[in-house]
Amino acid sequence: MREKNVTRRNFLTTSAKVAGGLTILGAAGSVRGEPVSNGKIRWGIIGVGNRARAHIAALNELDFCEVTALCDIREAALQRGLKLVKGTRPKTFKRYEEMLEEHDLDAVCIVTPNHLHKQMTIDSLEANKHVLCEKPMGITMADCDEVVAVAKKADRVLQYGMQLRHTPTYVRVNELVQGGAIGNIRYAWISDFRRDIRQLYEDPLVDRTQNWRYFQHTSGGMLLEYSIHRLDLLNWWMNSRPVRVSASGGHNVWRDRETIDHCGMLIEYANGAKATYGMTLYSRGYRTPWLLMGDDGQMLVERSGRVVIQKGDVSNSLGGPKFPDSEEVIELPKGENGTKLQYVHFMKAVNDEAQPLPDWRIAYDAMWVGIQGETAIREEKVIKL
Ligand SMILES: NC(=O)c1ccc[n+]([C@@H]2O[C@H](COP(=O)([O-])OP(=O)(O)OC[C@H]3O[C@@H](n4cnc5c(N)ncnc54)[C@H](O)[C@@H]3O)[C@@H](O)[C@H]2O)c1
Repeated sequence: MREKNVTRRNFLTTSAKVAGGLTILGAAGSVRGEPVSNGKIRWGIIGVGNRARAHIAALNELDFCEVTALCDIREAALQRGLKLVKGTRPKTFKRYEEMLEEHDLDAVCIVTPNHLHKQMTIDSLEANKHVLCEKPMGITMADCDEVVAVAKKADRVLQYGMQLRHTPTYVRVNELVQGGAIGNIRYAWISDFRRDIRQLYEDPLVDRTQNWRYFQHTSGGMLLEYSIHRLDLLNWWMNSRPVRVSASGGHNVWRDRETIDHCGMLIEYANGAKATYGMTLYSRGYRTPWLLMGDDGQMLVERSGRVVIQKGDVSNSLGGPKFPDSEEVIELPKGENGTKLQYVHFMKAVNDEAQPLPDWRIAYDAMWVGIQGETAIREEKVIKL
């Protein structure tokens, strides 16, 4: 029988520690009278590939976390992971189901290809582990519904690896928008103009495994794999739920894959605001500012790390007053790493001091936009909620 190590309710807080510039409460609690190992969350990582490096680096820096287990189907990945983890010698597993049987494991971080997220999340919650799962929730909305059904019943934290919600730069932009810097938001324009990172492998089997993100059935498509971070920023800043999506996209340059290499999307929100999102995977060095427009002015989010707020009557016409009436430049915070801060927040959620961020509701809405964008492109139609 599996031991319930740490529940949200009785993961009691006793000591204050400082992590990432934030004061957080350390854990030293028990479940049904049993002490928690060293007052730390004991993590198991499933999938020790590229992204797991960032997770391990973050966990190495947080004294309320330790990595006690690593799981990967590839021995080489496990060996690399063992070298990265500091302070502990994790147990290694090839099958995650065996790792979930471990008693000295409180939480699981899922960093595998996207099509595996759903089942691994469900199995981990059902094994009474807290879960931090990389985005996206799954690769279909049906996947998400299955996860939600289990998450609603589980007395465990389920948080998603959409770390921009914790990155101080984006948090500050959100504060400015929600604080009314440009009034009610009406329109946004943001982009992901990036380069391709695909590496080619001669062996088709190796290519399929390593390049899982370029196959629709393993990644769910580029709007889930890449765009979901930006789509979530839009949902967040627009402060409303997405209700209508139209999109066009396909293959302009990279014809060696199933997934698209560009798209343009138009998203409408329940509050009437609209957003345009552009994505290409064959651009380098094009870092045009993002634009947010509201009733009282507009905001340029410059990728160099500052925001320009231009206030004035956006409806002025020929002969009206010059726009803007005023211009303010705000430097955005730099340096702090959202991947690490998401663990600080996770600890608060385990201690029942905060809701997981992002929780499945937020992750679900971001999924919805990505999935509908993929469908709109494939089926050449407009999707409404
Ligand atoms: N939040 C972010 O900014 C961000 C950035 C990059 C990747 N990601 C996400 O992280 C996840 C992993 O991406 P990656 O770039 O590390 O991919 P990757 O291919 O480098 O790593 C995936 C690892 O999972 C392992 N794996 C595959 N099947 C497994 C199984 N059944 N059990 C255990 N291990 C298994 C692979 O062997 C590999 O080591 C994806 O969901 C991706 O979307 C998030």
